[in-house]
Amino acid sequence: MKKTLTSLGMSLLAILFSSIVASSSYAVTITIACGAVGDEFELCKKNVDAWAAETGNEVVMFQSPNLTTDRLGLFQQIFAAKSSEIDVVQIDVIWPGLLGKHFIDLKKYIPTSHINQHFKAIVDNNTDSKGRVLAVPFFTDAGILYYRKDLLEKHGHQPPQTWEDLTRIAKDILSKESPNNSRLVGFVFQGKPYEGLTCDALEWIDSYNGGSIIDEATGEVTVNNPNAAAALKMAASWIGTISPKGVLNYAEEDARGVFQSGNAIFMRNWPYAWALGNNPDSPIKGKIGVAPLPKGGANGKHTGTLGGWNMSVSKYSKHPKEAADLVRYLTTKQIQIQRAVDGAYNPTIGDAYQAPEIEAANPFMVTLYDTFTNAVARPSKLTGRKYNKVSSKFWNAVHSVLSGKETAEESLARLEKDLNRIKGKRGW
Ligand code: GLC
Repeated sequence: MKKTLTSLGMSLLAILFSSIVASSSYAVTITIACGAVGDEFELCKKNVDAWAAETGNEVVMFQSPNLTTDRLGLFQQIFAAKSSEIDVVQIDVIWPGLLGKHFIDLKKYIPTSHINQHFKAIVDNNTDSKGRVLAVPFFTDAGILYYRKDLLEKHGHQPPQTWEDLTRIAKDILSKESPNNSRLVGFVFQGKPYEGLTCDALEWIDSYNGGSIIDEATGEVTVNNPNAAAALKMAASWIGTISPKGVLNYAEEDARGVFQSGNAIFMRNWPYAWALGNNPDSPIKGKIGVAPLPKGGANGKHTGTLGGWNMSVSKYSKHPKEAADLVRYLTTKQIQIQRAVDGAYNPTIGDAYQAPEIEAANPFMVTLYDTFTNAVARPSKLTGRKYNKVSSKFWNAVHSVLSGKETAEESLARLEKDLNRIKGKRGW
C-alpha cells in the first residue's frame, strides 16, 4: 500500500513537473503576417518554419491581402482594437509613421549590433522621434525597368535612356511584332489607384526633375509644377497606345502576369519579378533585361522609388520576447542572402552584396546598386500619420489624368489645394 502511494506520488510529481516545464518553456505560438506578392508567402514560411523547428515554438502564418494598401487598412483595424491576433508583422517602408505606435521598441530584445548592420537610412526611417526602433529591415526595393532583351536586339534597339526613347522603341517593335503576336503590348506598370501608382508616378515626376510631391526640408507642397505636369502628360499618352487601357487597373502582379507570359516589351516593377521571370517554367526565362528607369527627357534623371519591407512586433503580443527573436532570425545576413538568391529580394545589409552568389543570381543588384541606394523616398517620414491621406490624394489625382478625366494642370492644381488642406495651419 505504502509502495503504491509512493509511486502514485512520484507520478503526480512527474506530471506536475512536466507541466511547469511546458508552461515556462519556449513552447509558445507566434502569428506572423508576412507579405503576399509573388512567392513572398512561401519564402517567408520556409524561414519561419526553420525558426520554429530550432526553438520548439509554433508559428502560424497569417494570410495577408496582396496589395499594400489593403494590408494597411486591415492592420489599422486589428491594431486599433489592440488585438493580440498578430505578433510579428511585415511592414512597408512607408508605415512606421502610420502604425508605429502599435509596435514595441525592438532595442529591448535585439542587440544594437544586429540592428546597425542594416543600411543606416532604413534603420533611421524605422526609428521614431524618441529613439525607439520600431522595425528591423527585411528587404529593400526600388522601381526598375524590365525589357525583352530578345525583342530589342532583334529590332536593333538599345535599352531606352529616356521615356521618349521607350515610347518610340515600343511603338516600333509593336508595329513589327503585332502580326506575330496580336496580344503584345508595349509597356505595363502599376496604374491602379493604390500605393503602387504613387510609386510609379513619383518616378515619372522625379525623372523630369519635378520633385517628390512635398519638399522634405521645408514641408512645402511642390507637386504643382510644369515638370510634374510634363511627366503626367507623357504617362497619359501611353494609355491606349503602348499600354493597354487595362493598365489603369494593374497592380504589380497584373503587370508581371502580362510580361511573364511574353506579352509585353517593357515593364516597370520591383526586383522580385526577376526571380519569377527566370523560373524554369517561365516562357521568357533568359530573355529579360533590366535597366534603370528612363530619364524624363535629355535633362532628366534616372530614378526609382524607394520601397521595401521591415519586421515589427506588436505591442499587444503576449510573447514579445519570442516574437522579437523571430524578427532577429529573419533579418540575419545569411537569410538575406538566401532570399536574394531564391526570390531576388534585395538585402538591407551592405556586406551581403559581396556574396558571389548574389551577383550570380541577380546581376542587376550589383550593376544597379546606385539605383537602390539613391532611390527617391515618398514623403512618409515627413507626413507621418497623414501619409496615407497624402498618398491617396496623389494616386487619385494621377489616375484621373491617366484616364483622361482631367488635364495634368487641372489635376495638379487641385491636388496642391487638397494637400495643403491636409497639411493644415499647424503643418505636417
Ligand atoms: C512594394 C514596395 C513597397 C510599396 C509597394 C507598392 O511592395 O516594396 O514599399 O509600397 O510595392 O505597391
